[in-house]
Amino acid sequence: MSQAIHIPAMTPAVLPMLPQPAVIRAIKPESYGVATYTLAFQDPALAAAYRFLPGQFNMLYLPAFGEVAISLSSDPAQPQALGHSIRFGGSVTQGIGRLKVGDMLGLRGPYGSHWPLDLAAGKDVLMVAGGIGLAPLRPALLTILKERSKYGRVLLLYGGRTPQDLLYTDEFEAWQKAGVELHVSVDWADENWKGQVGVIPMLFYRIRLEYKKCLVLTCGPEIMMRFVIYEALARNIPRESIYISMERNMKCAVGFCGHCQYGPNFICQQGPILNFATVEPFFGKESF
Ligand SMILES: Cc1cc2nc3c(=O)[nH]c(=O)nc-3n(C[C@H](O)[C@H](O)[C@H](O)COP(=O)(O)OP(=O)(O)OC[C@H]3O[C@@H](n4cnc5c(N)ncnc54)[C@H](O)[C@@H]3O)c2cc1C
Ligand code: FES
Repeated sequence: MSQAIHIPAMTPAVLPMLPQPAVIRAIKPESYGVATYTLAFQDPALAAAYRFLPGQFNMLYLPAFGEVAISLSSDPAQPQALGHSIRFGGSVTQGIGRLKVGDMLGLRGPYGSHWPLDLAAGKDVLMVAGGIGLAPLRPALLTILKERSKYGRVLLLYGGRTPQDLLYTDEFEAWQKAGVELHVSVDWADENWKGQVGVIPMLFYRIRLEYKKCLVLTCGPEIMMRFVIYEALARNIPRESIYISMERNMKCAVGFCGHCQYGPNFICQQGPILNFATVEPFFGKESF
């Protein structure tokens, strides 16, 4: 059996604990309760130096409210326009939801590990996303599409609770034209929905793959990822070929506070992208 691969985290571009002013350049409503915020550093030198890899995240700071971890959802080839797709849930994200174009946020990052696109070269890539879990996969998809011939088949299995919960639907056609095999499902359809109805792991039954030569990249609610892994293992996809994005409550994002501890790992440092074989003993456990 091959060894699980550890993906090193990148060093943040900014001072690790100091948020830098970033201006909101655009706000695009995506789905029910989610919008994409495009941010740019105010300091031109910082804007020119900042780079990120697909799957990494930033800490966004809203004064008087607090700080939240948000994945980068934009094209890594355009690091001057940093996209963050945010679901308005609690106090900080709802506070961000009240901001307008031209308002400021604090930004520090990028943090964390990244999707192993170097390992995906020459293989089929199977992306499986649930709801806002497509946000950290979008930079990987956009990167793959830039060098499409380097990869085998590229499949995206995507689902949401309802059609209104799906992100980036305006891009689906372009992705398909560029060579992505897209399968979409919703838990509850409305009268306009023409696609699949059912939970995301069921989409595995709609595809055929040479499973031994594919890499699985998945992000979504933990329960969804658990069933995705179940379907993948049932098809003899090696556990070392499955990568998951784990979310835990982040405070420092640099390994100081311990809020994100997951077994022997700190998700902010060894994650959020982790090889399933590495975390299998802890995955799906309520507490450990
Ligand atoms: C690596 C990483 C990437 C993320 N990417 C995105 C993204 O792209 N878009 C997005 O909308 N959200 C993302 N999140 C989740 C986001 O950070 C939390 O939902 C956010 O902190 C909640 O803040 P709030 O102000 O909405 O709610 P709060 O008022 O801070 O919290 C609301 C509730 O959510 C719980 N909570 C807070 N943070 C988390 C968390 N990380 N995981 C589970 N429960 C939490 C709190 O304990 C509380 O019960 C990411 C989290 C991580 C760790
Ligand atoms: S968020 Fe503080 S140790 Fe990971």
